[in-house]
Amino acid sequence: MSETLLQAQELRKTFRSSNQEFEVLRGVNLTLARGELVALLGVSGTGKSTLIQILGALDRPSSGTVVMEGVDLFALSQNKCAAFRNRHIGFIYQSHRLLPEFTALENVMLPLLIGRTARREAKARAEDALHEVELAHRLHHRPGQMSGGEQQRVAIARAVVGNPALLLADEPTGNLDRKTAEGVFQLLKGLNRNKGLTCLMVTHNRELAADLDRRIHLIDGQLVEGDEQH
Ligand SMILES: Nc1ncnc2c1ncn2[C@@H]1O[C@H](COP(=O)(O)OP(=O)(O)OP(=O)(O)O)[C@@H](O)[C@H]1O
Ligand SMILES: [Mg+2]
Repeated sequence: MSETLLQAQELRKTFRSSNQEFEVLRGVNLTLARGELVALLGVSGTGKSTLIQILGALDRPSSGTVVMEGVDLFALSQNKCAAFRNRHIGFIYQSHRLLPEFTALENVMLPLLIGRTARREAKARAEDALHEVELAHRLHHRPGQMSGGEQQRVAIARAVVGNPALLLADEPTGNLDRKTAEGVFQLLKGLNRNKGLTCLMVTHNRELAADLDRRIHLIDGQLVEGDEQH
């Protein structure tokens, strides 16, 4: 039996703007087993980013629960929730969101420093993480001095440097050419294989998605499991 890492139950999310209400998530249920590599598919605007931001406790649902490693994330205080996220969850944003005035090394060190890792150790671990994404030669470059694929690999290093149990990746290959996208994808697969990292990845690329353990589709605010075309 595979061990459950994360369980989301009956997630709902309503956005309100001026006098309009819009329910993006309408009762999402999801179980992720430890070590799984799962693709999250769905047309633009269906709520994929909304969902993985909630799963990563970057945003709160209107109702519903997310339990990870036995911890009910939204029952925690904001500070405890942020600390849990820092320790257990890596997040790759749809746009990489590196800090422009910091070097690659500093960007990757940041989550460790926030988690109160000593500076010397944070530096050593960030160097290792950048080495793993084959950027040992770009440690002191700022994002603006790197290519899109390099910036995305720095974002991956930043997401995994703390050795999280779960990696949530929002279209990590979205803005990349086919060959670079394939490289980033292989990198994530390697982290999954070698470190047992559980990964939920939003992608529009069906070829890459077909290569993962499982595919789920967000349709009309709910998840549908399966390989058929939607
Ligand atoms: N903060 C917000 N306030 C109001 N509406 C929002 C907010 N964030 C997202 N939405 C709306 O919720 C819907 C889902 O957005 P979301 O970014 O989750 O979609 P997505 O599936 O990730 O799309 P894409 O594939 O284009 O990235 C969209 O219609 C969007 O306009
Ligand atoms: Mg999105």
